[in-house]
Amino acid sequence: MMKTSMMKDLNCDLPSTMNIIAIEKPGGPEVLQMQTRPMPYPGINEILIKVCAAGINRPDVFQRLGKYPPPIGAPDYPGLEVAGHIVKIGTSVTSHKVGDNVCALLSGGGYADYAIANPVTTLPIPSCLTYIEAAALPETVFTVWSNLFDIGRLVKDEWLLVHGGTSGIGTIAIQMAKAFGAKVIATAGSETKCQFCLKLGADYAVNYRTSDFVDACRSTTGQKGVNLILDMVGGSYTAKNHEAAAMDGRIIQIATLQGSKVEINLSQIMKKRLWHTGSTLRSRPDIEKQTIAKSVEKYIWPLIEKGLIRPVIDTVLPLSKAAKAHRLMEKSDHIGKIILSTES
Ligand SMILES: NC(=O)c1ccc[n+]([C@@H]2O[C@H](COP(=O)([O-])OP(=O)(O)OC[C@H]3O[C@@H](n4cnc5c(N)ncnc54)[C@H](OP(=O)(O)O)[C@@H]3O)[C@@H](O)[C@H]2O)c1
Repeated sequence: MMKTSMMKDLNCDLPSTMNIIAIEKPGGPEVLQMQTRPMPYPGINEILIKVCAAGINRPDVFQRLGKYPPPIGAPDYPGLEVAGHIVKIGTSVTSHKVGDNVCALLSGGGYADYAIANPVTTLPIPSCLTYIEAAALPETVFTVWSNLFDIGRLVKDEWLLVHGGTSGIGTIAIQMAKAFGAKVIATAGSETKCQFCLKLGADYAVNYRTSDFVDACRSTTGQKGVNLILDMVGGSYTAKNHEAAAMDGRIIQIATLQGSKVEINLSQIMKKRLWHTGSTLRSRPDIEKQTIAKSVEKYIWPLIEKGLIRPVIDTVLPLSKAAKAHRLMEKSDHIGKIILSTES
């Protein structure tokens, strides 16, 4: 904790405590409990944000279950993204000022009235968005940018297959890929979800419960297959992704909802010269997150300002209802993002 003399905005009248949502012990949604904690103080290179809204992400569910521990130095309570306004900054911070409306990617601690953020992953809120909408952006946009464009090298006219098309990640991936001129096939678990993917701009949507996505990829691409696959499922999808891919196809793993131990046919990889890689955003060093943030602000923020990309909000609940929010996420009926609001 830093001394107050090292902080700007000494006159800011903040409470000495705040509400947070703690994980009392690994378990079901009921272990998420509101607690009172001391107000955090920003270090010399940090920002203190008054949180107006916090995004819920599937990794928060894994953290609650005890399967995704926070990195060293991060708060022990969940929350990877927030939107709000800056109330204090450390003395070395010159990129932001008190009063700025911002959204931030965090390494944890977003389910709270106030959150400490790193300036390099704190961006201005696009002028057309509310706090609720802005809180839906950082985790999904950073993840999608780094995987589709940095690692995946997606370019105009290529075919992208997005699994989980109506997930928080999927809804942004469809819009970002379309905005850059790619053609998109999305998978989802119901007709309603498929219709929503089409509404977002997907060229084709497959209900994986009633149709085979490999067949759909082949027929939609004139038997060539898809150039890039963004996969959060793993398990039985892995071999099928290799079948659905085109020559020189790239498969990017961002999660393994169906399991991470799989059997694959390596000859398929050799014959098609496939690339199968993956990434996790939270564990990446700040310098890499800063590079992603710069690209997001340069290439994606203008598209949001133009209305070409817009976060999809399924449900907004008060911070005190975090357990209900996690139940909703685990039910998987949502389309887009579930958000916690600290504003009454
Ligand atoms: N690697 C990274 O850096 C990174 C960063 C953020 C998120 N992620 C991952 O990306 C995925 C999406 O995150 P999100 O926050 O957007 O989650 P989300 O909104 O809860 O979406 C997950 C979706 O996956 C689909 N799904 C398919 N198979 C599933 C299964 N076996 N179990 C549960 N759901 C299944 C569900 O839709 P259907 O009804 O269509 O099946 C569900 O809506 C998560 O797995 C998350 O861990 C990875």
